[in-house]
Amino acid sequence: MIRHLKLVLVISTSICLLVQSKTVNKDRNTPRPFPKGFLFGTSTASYQTEGGWNLDGKSENIWDHLTHTNPCSVKDCSNGDIANDSYHLYKRDVEMMRELGLHFYRFSLSWTRILSSSFPNKINDAGVQYYNNLIDEMLKYNIEPMVTLYHWDLPQQLQLLGGWTNPHVVDWFADYARVAFELFGDRVKYWVTVNEPRQICYQGYGAATMAPLIAIPGIAEYMCAKNLLVAHAKAYHIYDKEFRDKGAGVIGISISADWIEPETPKDTQAAFEALQFEWGQYAHPIFSEAGDFPPVMKERIAAKSAEQGFPRSRLPEFSKKEIEMLRGSSDFFGLNHYSTNILYKNASTQGIFEKPSFYDDIGAATYQRPEWPTSASFWLKSVPWGFYKLLRFISDEYNNPPVIITENGWSTLTGIEDDGRVAYYRDYLDAMLDAIEDGCEVIAYTAWSLMDNFEWMQGYTERFGLYEVDYNSPQRTRTPRKSAFVYKQIIRTNQLDYDYVPDTNEMTIDEGH
Ligand code: NOJ
Repeated sequence: MIRHLKLVLVISTSICLLVQSKTVNKDRNTPRPFPKGFLFGTSTASYQTEGGWNLDGKSENIWDHLTHTNPCSVKDCSNGDIANDSYHLYKRDVEMMRELGLHFYRFSLSWTRILSSSFPNKINDAGVQYYNNLIDEMLKYNIEPMVTLYHWDLPQQLQLLGGWTNPHVVDWFADYARVAFELFGDRVKYWVTVNEPRQICYQGYGAATMAPLIAIPGIAEYMCAKNLLVAHAKAYHIYDKEFRDKGAGVIGISISADWIEPETPKDTQAAFEALQFEWGQYAHPIFSEAGDFPPVMKERIAAKSAEQGFPRSRLPEFSKKEIEMLRGSSDFFGLNHYSTNILYKNASTQGIFEKPSFYDDIGAATYQRPEWPTSASFWLKSVPWGFYKLLRFISDEYNNPPVIITENGWSTLTGIEDDGRVAYYRDYLDAMLDAIEDGCEVIAYTAWSLMDNFEWMQGYTERFGLYEVDYNSPQRTRTPRKSAFVYKQIIRTNQLDYDYVPDTNEMTIDEGH
């Protein structure tokens, strides 16, 4: 992977220019190749799939706590106690990876399965054994593990201490990361520190739409953002200094970024600024030349805080040392992308949001067009040109970093005839190829998800899987959807063929896997 990254950087001479538009009218009758060596994977996360919530020494995390104390805060009053039972069925999971012919599989570690006390004073051998079994089973078939350290399941005990709003979380996370590198760094070459900081901070601490369901808007999400970023950077440097030589791997962060399209040309600046708030707050400190939070956030929040009577800005400051520690602290731009929003800012968008709050700080409104194809999730519509524009923007704004698409996917209801998902994957991969053709250094793509799983506050009502999971069967039977056959063919041929009609009778394992 390192070799591949370096090669990519050396041959990358074309820097993308600011994007205005791109025609998406193309000849779809000819299969379109992906670059040689392009990598395909799928992704899941521990709480969403593993189950075994209290088995073999695992202790409680914030999602166990939320779903047990407030069950119907989740749409179908469900939880991840058993989920897909991957804790027991990991061999079937690996068999599915082989059926698809994946190059890599992204999954996350459950902090409380490895460290029952939250701290590294004692390692839980049974939890470690589970991940060793999974990793070794994958490697047996040449499937590279991509390991996310943190995909939202914070130890409940640490939440009692303030979770991501307590600056001590930097050390707690760094200690946990070091344990993971020590345990698995000999075999894992791809690491993701933190998955989707925006969802952790804004939804978890500002808007109360995710565990730990805290609503201290305009304040707590910014405290979380600072601590989370410093924690990420500390883990990055531990890996870089103490482990990289031994494992020869790469490590980065996964940022969720939707594209924000201005409604009219006069909204262009406002759309740029909103984008800096929405996800630039996590990308700018790491990927920009200057580092630190985006200037527009610092200025706007300081001014509003003063107007609102706060003695200092609600946005905490990084020290000089932290700014330096963060700059460049990701070997790749891990991108989770799903959809696009249209933004406008005018007199009608002023003073309509709670004060203080993240959206009052932004001061603009967004919507999605009703004619865009709609998934089973209210926020997810298919807008492939938004993906193209986003990739061009990242390339232009951050000096064309290597990008790993760490998530992209579509939700449906139950059923294996998932034509909407097939169309979405094809159109988004096509848009990604447009960006690659323009010089954007996208080196890998990860479909969310390998299989249906616990979709957080939506429980099991929204399905993202290439494989359907039957939650009524004790075996949690996994059945390939049409999209699984299509994805398999894309990987096998290394090309995108809109005309391919899969024979969905039988899923087999090809030679080599
Ligand atoms: C992003 C999150 O990382 C993942 O956990 C979630 O299930 C998908 N988006 C779909 O909403």
